[in-house]
Amino acid sequence: MVKTNLPLQIPGIDVEVVDLFSDRATLSEQLEQFADLYNQRPFDNTGGIRFDSAFAYYYFLKRIMPDVVIESGFWRGFSTWLVDSILPDAELYCLDPVLMMPFNFPSCYRSPRAGYSTQDFSCFSFELDPSAQNCAIFDDHQNVAPRIEQSLRYGIQHVLLDDNQYEDTYHLSITHLIKRNDPILLDLFSWIDEYYLFPPLISPVMEGCPLEPLWSEIPTWLNHLDREEHFAYSWVTYLKLKPQFIL
Ligand SMILES: C[S@@+](CC[C@H](N)C(=O)[O-])C[C@H]1O[C@@H](n2cnc3c(N)ncnc32)[C@H](O)[C@@H]1O
Repeated sequence: MVKTNLPLQIPGIDVEVVDLFSDRATLSEQLEQFADLYNQRPFDNTGGIRFDSAFAYYYFLKRIMPDVVIESGFWRGFSTWLVDSILPDAELYCLDPVLMMPFNFPSCYRSPRAGYSTQDFSCFSFELDPSAQNCAIFDDHQNVAPRIEQSLRYGIQHVLLDDNQYEDTYHLSITHLIKRNDPILLDLFSWIDEYYLFPPLISPVMEGCPLEPLWSEIPTWLNHLDREEHFAYSWVTYLKLKPQFIL
């Protein structure tokens, strides 16, 4: 049985629909707390998550409270700053093979306590305690199914995905696999206990997104944030993998 907030119809997979985001009052409080943190951001991000998706990360990471976080795809390090700020005691690893080439970012964030590597997640030799709360964050634009299989092999139970999008791009997301009814879905969802897509904060809702926005308008105290720039939706999704499949 997969717990989800989506109307999933995958032959052979039973789902229990859970309205995870129904408590808007608590979400509003969390949004306010998050906005205080966002105001302390080291730079305005480009090529990565902004306010909308950063709040989704904040929501899920506070819910999981992982002991170990592995970030695959960190670019300028905005998401690393976020993880560092939300989870100051977590062990942190940041991987990005593209950054073996020199990039001249106008500004970036590198955590003094993170282990950095230009190896791909699939090759890095993590020695994780499978009984700890281990979390992988994938914003690396790679096909998702192998990433989930690799996570299970490393003993990772919590997975956060950015870009679980509907519109075509150069990697295959879970939403793409669902869209084309890919035969791998049966295996994939047999490994998953929970599958939650964070809803858009406000409209417009992007093509293929089955969720209503959480709010009809941006709260007035967020009016200083440009709508187009900071409220771009990127389909942040949380997966809890079944412990019995952790290898
Ligand atoms: C959208 S950016 C990440 C943005 C960052 N997470 C943020 O929000 O600030 C995508 C990143 O994936 C990286 N990437 C590409 N292939 C990768 C791979 N195989 N493993 C990890 N990262 C990869 C790119 O170099 C780029 O830094």
